[in-house]
Amino acid sequence: MNSTLISKVKDSFINKFNADPLMIFSPGRINIIGEHTDYNDGFVFPAAVDKGIVAAFHKSDDKVSTAYAIDMNESIVFELDKLKPSSEGSWENYVLGVVAEMQNKNKVVGNFNIAFSGDIPAGSGMSSSAALENSVVFGLNELFNLGLSKTEMILISQKAEHNYVGVNCGIMDQYASMFGIENNALLLDCRTVEATPFEINFKDHELILINTNVKHSLSDSAYNDRRSACENIASLLDIKALRDATEADLLTIKDQVTPENYQKALYVVQENNRAVKASQAMLDGDLETLGALIYGSHEGLSKQYKVSCDELDFLVEQAKLNAHILGARMMGGGFGGCTINLISKNAVETFKTTVSKAYKAKFNKDCSIYAVKLSNGTHVIK
Ligand code: GLA
Repeated sequence: MNSTLISKVKDSFINKFNADPLMIFSPGRINIIGEHTDYNDGFVFPAAVDKGIVAAFHKSDDKVSTAYAIDMNESIVFELDKLKPSSEGSWENYVLGVVAEMQNKNKVVGNFNIAFSGDIPAGSGMSSSAALENSVVFGLNELFNLGLSKTEMILISQKAEHNYVGVNCGIMDQYASMFGIENNALLLDCRTVEATPFEINFKDHELILINTNVKHSLSDSAYNDRRSACENIASLLDIKALRDATEADLLTIKDQVTPENYQKALYVVQENNRAVKASQAMLDGDLETLGALIYGSHEGLSKQYKVSCDELDFLVEQAKLNAHILGARMMGGGFGGCTINLISKNAVETFKTTVSKAYKAKFNKDCSIYAVKLSNGTHVIK
């Protein structure tokens, strides 16, 4: 965890609100494989990372509550009985949405003040939004002693995203951020919302992220459209979700859907199988197979599900040119953000140099490269 960030948030809170706050850390996440499978009741393979949101809380004696976004130097004052969504794309919805959804669950909080900041690059596909939502629900649950379970909390965060942010997301991001375990990735079954932890030790390999620095925005309808397309095909097949479909099932309705939507559903079925196979490869210590599945995931996301972009495709092509990289793919919702790369440890430095140069030459902008450390989920900072 970033101690400079913690001090910054604490000091800013004390300066603004003149009280000693409760401090919460809530991480972002990576995802090894299983993309756009979560809202199809399928499998995903995420892990919480050591970057995230730090939020400071204190009860307020005023008749209003205040939320302060330190990095934007913006604050809002609101009344708890008059909550409504703010303008689209604004950070306010993550805070207001969580409070509103807590109220919907009859978990009523008193007035409070919050200040927060983070070290996840926004729009990088590492779920800064889920980290913020989880920090709010977790902090308020502590502050007002509401007795919410972690599962209840992530469902509140997800509802806030649906109803205030306007993205009909699955449960992967909120789950990974809340339930993360140090040095582990979580094979999450999004139907039962239960996960099996896998200790991650790639021996002479490691995971690195390369950020295109193209900010993705999920609130545009692209994400929601794909979710509805999947749900429509599931209902054509008379199943609960595409998780229950096989490729053979899809053939039976092929002439009833557009070729584009057929490919999307096929992608989901195949990606779900890849996620399951990846967990087996990991148990077998078979990194070659894991890497091939990761490349396959990107191919599907780019060509079938169509959520990639030129910059992401370019970075994956660069990875494929390098024999020391076993797999690479875009990560998260898509249209920008990061690729995740499974790379031989002793090839990292050289690859960093070549890929940065190539990216700059092609797009006339910089990419950013991060190592990842798998970390614990949302918690109180002692
Ligand atoms: C976003 C959503 C998640 C998931 C991914 C794609 O991160 O918030 O629920 O659907 O996209 O796998």
